[in-house]
Amino acid sequence: MKIIHEADIEDLLAQLTLEEKASLCSGSDFWHTQPVERLGIDAVMVTDGPHGLRKQAGHSDHLGASESVPATCFPSAVGLGSTWDTSLLRRVGEALGVETRSNEVAVLLGPGVNMKRSPLCGRNFEYFSEDPRLAGELAAALVEGVQSQGVGTSLKHFAVNNQETDRMRVDAQVDERTLREIYLPAFERVVKQARPLTVMCAYNKINGTFGSEHPWLLTRVLRDEWGFDGLVMSDWGAVEDRVAGVAAGLDLEMPGSWGVNDQRVLDAVRDGRLPEADLDAAVVNLLTLLARTMPAVAEPGDFSAADHHTLAREAATRAAVLLKNANAALPLTSLNDVVVIGEMARTPRYQGAGSSQVNPTQLDNALDALRSHHEVEFAPGYLLAEAAGEPGQDRTDEQLRSEAVELARGKTAVVFCGLPAIEESEGYDREHMSLPQSHRDLIAAVGAVASSVIVTLSNGAATTIADWQDSADAVLELWLGGQAGGSAAAELLLGQVSPSGRLAESIALNIQDVPAQLNFPGERGVVRYGEGPHIGYRGLDAMDVEVAYPFGHGLTYTTFDYGSLEVSATAITADTPQDDTVCTITCTVTNSGDATGTAVPQLYIGFPNATVSRVPRELRGFTTAELQPGE
Ligand code: BGC
Repeated sequence: MKIIHEADIEDLLAQLTLEEKASLCSGSDFWHTQPVERLGIDAVMVTDGPHGLRKQAGHSDHLGASESVPATCFPSAVGLGSTWDTSLLRRVGEALGVETRSNEVAVLLGPGVNMKRSPLCGRNFEYFSEDPRLAGELAAALVEGVQSQGVGTSLKHFAVNNQETDRMRVDAQVDERTLREIYLPAFERVVKQARPLTVMCAYNKINGTFGSEHPWLLTRVLRDEWGFDGLVMSDWGAVEDRVAGVAAGLDLEMPGSWGVNDQRVLDAVRDGRLPEADLDAAVVNLLTLLARTMPAVAEPGDFSAADHHTLAREAATRAAVLLKNANAALPLTSLNDVVVIGEMARTPRYQGAGSSQVNPTQLDNALDALRSHHEVEFAPGYLLAEAAGEPGQDRTDEQLRSEAVELARGKTAVVFCGLPAIEESEGYDREHMSLPQSHRDLIAAVGAVASSVIVTLSNGAATTIADWQDSADAVLELWLGGQAGGSAAAELLLGQVSPSGRLAESIALNIQDVPAQLNFPGERGVVRYGEGPHIGYRGLDAMDVEVAYPFGHGLTYTTFDYGSLEVSATAITADTPQDDTVCTITCTVTNSGDATGTAVPQLYIGFPNATVSRVPRELRGFTTAELQPGE
């Protein structure tokens, strides 16, 4: 590979013909940029993303159907988001960067920082949170980690891509204040702090204009206001009017259009509809991306799959949220009296479907991991739809259920439940928030006979818990834990590690309580964000709605005392820079229990005397602290 240097870009630009410049504005195939052999400009590869590398070796598609090279499958963003831990995200990012580089890929297509406006969005598992501050800080750390390895990231999907229903054309209508307070800040933080090499536009329209041709978003906000100096690429197939896109600031169309749109760009420049300077700007951004990534791609290096698996396990243990733990049901003090129920213990649900689907280097399951400590009996309890060889919900199988109930009688039952793969995917939304009936029936039946019931959940977005949780003593939400999620679950159940995750999304009692549902997913090609900034906990708080578990919640095997809160503030004047720290808040956190655990202090701010409508409280800061007993 011939490496391009940033200093040579102006020179190269001057040598390129108009045709060559137009050709650089789109990919050469599914995953590569266009080469210009005459001038020694090589192509680079970009590929998904976000929680592992999906580099397709043979036939290409963008929905994950075709097999890709083995790569470490880390927890999906839903799990990484629940860690609230920027240093962990940075380490995961570094590992992703190493794998990206070692596969000679220039850009990992992620992370996604869209807000979880509704729990039903089919792609929530790929997003971090319903809160922009949390999503932004975590994603910035991940991007810094990946890019520390010399390869790029693609921050996506810019912007307001909060549903999959009609995603290719729906018009998301949002007022500017809500955009600035809720839907843009995570992008802004990542762009300013971590400087991602690329940004990927969204499929949808934003206030009437497609994300792929939105001058206000792609140029005024992204470049002029936030100082972005990288490349903007399209989501796969998001381009409607390529000429308008170039003018708006969309540098690269992916995948290629097999010359069709290049010709349109060429014609538009020739007949004066598109200024050549706009085309040149796109070409410079493309050449800059090549210059920034080629040195790493030219020296790919290697990675240790075993080390990355260990990191994936650490991340999965950190991601799990202990929602409920009555009678100190967890951790399990011994496995003598324990039975394991639920097919997901043996056949884990560990990632979501669509373009993010990774081919893992190995796959742990909780049953084997528990059995490596002590023999435990197992009953599948329900039939996974995938195992039954038919699409749809997991089916209740009377015989499997009664075998499970007999096994659980008088025992401590650890019941593995969750959402079937078919329910959570890119491309469509969920229709309801419930666990499959077969799982709920199983929990109730086991709950009636077992001495203690521990339910673990594997799912990529909030599910209704209130309707069955009285049958359970403990509920451990594992999310989609990646390839080491099974062994991580065993460590948590056995108390080798204390759960430390906190909810990055509210768990409402019912889907009807969620403010955005009044306008989700819209109709006739339009979705109005009528709830304004009141998404997630902001709206639930404002309406004083009772929830199953609130944003920020998470138990552990110890207790923490919070004290000595101190606030120091400096006055804000006309000269105070926008991102300045004007208020510092400290407090002392003490581990008052007898297990090591991680506290996650969270700072929320409200403006009770505001003269405009404001949400009651908003997250403004957080950190994590692992503390020994008494520390
Ligand atoms: C997804 C993107 C993804 C791209 C390439 C699209 O369908 O929305 O997130 O990066 O495909 O696979």
